[in-house]
Amino acid sequence: MKVLRSIGAIRDYRKQLAGSVGLVPTMGFLHEGHLSLVRRSKAECEHTVVSIFVNPTQFGPDEDFGAYPRDTDLDLKLLENSGADAVFLPGAGEMYPPGTDIFVVPGKIADRLEGSARPGHFRGVATVVLKLFNLIQPQRAYFGQKDAQQTAVIRKMVADLDVPVEIKVLPTVRESDGLAMSSRNTYLNPAERSAATVLYRSLKLAQELINGGEKDAEIVRQRMTELILAEPLARVDYVSVADARSLEELTFVTSPVLVSLAVRIGRTRLIDNVMLA
Ligand code: PAJ
Repeated sequence: MKVLRSIGAIRDYRKQLAGSVGLVPTMGFLHEGHLSLVRRSKAECEHTVVSIFVNPTQFGPDEDFGAYPRDTDLDLKLLENSGADAVFLPGAGEMYPPGTDIFVVPGKIADRLEGSARPGHFRGVATVVLKLFNLIQPQRAYFGQKDAQQTAVIRKMVADLDVPVEIKVLPTVRESDGLAMSSRNTYLNPAERSAATVLYRSLKLAQELINGGEKDAEIVRQRMTELILAEPLARVDYVSVADARSLEELTFVTSPVLVSLAVRIGRTRLIDNVMLA
């Protein structure tokens, strides 16, 4: 497995690849969710490149950029074992040299949900992902349903800017009690870790209500909110029942619907979602 740290090195590496290339963009501190994307890329592409870059432009000034967990040695071992061909591991100065002045600005799709809770977040995500696409020129790129709005923003960017890459979205990988795997789960102490199951429990409740015929989206949001508020360590950031394509909040449940939420457990902000047909 090649480890490439500079733009020059990744461009040179890409030039000598023949056949299809799959890209798995990550911020590291890898878990099974990330590795499921690597395995799918390996199955579908001749070469698999994984990027590890904690992207400063997608963090707000009061967010956890500095504290974001990092363990490059372990990440490289996991990637070696999962059969990745190359890892792109740039420093911040490499991706954003002084004077960088052009960014990708997503439109309405990035305004709500995570975009309204984290202003500028998707501008940073779209910019770094487009840069990775330009550097690595993959035929396919692999993302997780865990970050549903991120996949919607990237799909829209690729469509609107004519980027020649196929976007693949894979299911959320969960712990045995339903908690979605996330690098940020490492922030949780034991009491918070058990409280964190409230995200999945409330998504399950939404699923039961909607599958049982509930058509009033506000009732679904209320019932989920009540369940979360019954957990003393949890605070609701948002609970959303939205059109899966436009991400607009629904009055009446239509199909497909994206039920998503952001909840603070202590100081840790967690997100999760389910898509219902
Ligand atoms: P990161 O949070 O490291 O996630 C990298 C990829 O793994 C994303 O596509 C994410 O949706 C996926 N992923 C995370 N947890 C998952 C889980 N439990 N199951 C399945 N897939 C999961 O998302 C980012 O990094 C960044 O925003 C990035 C796209 C790399 C741009 O900086």
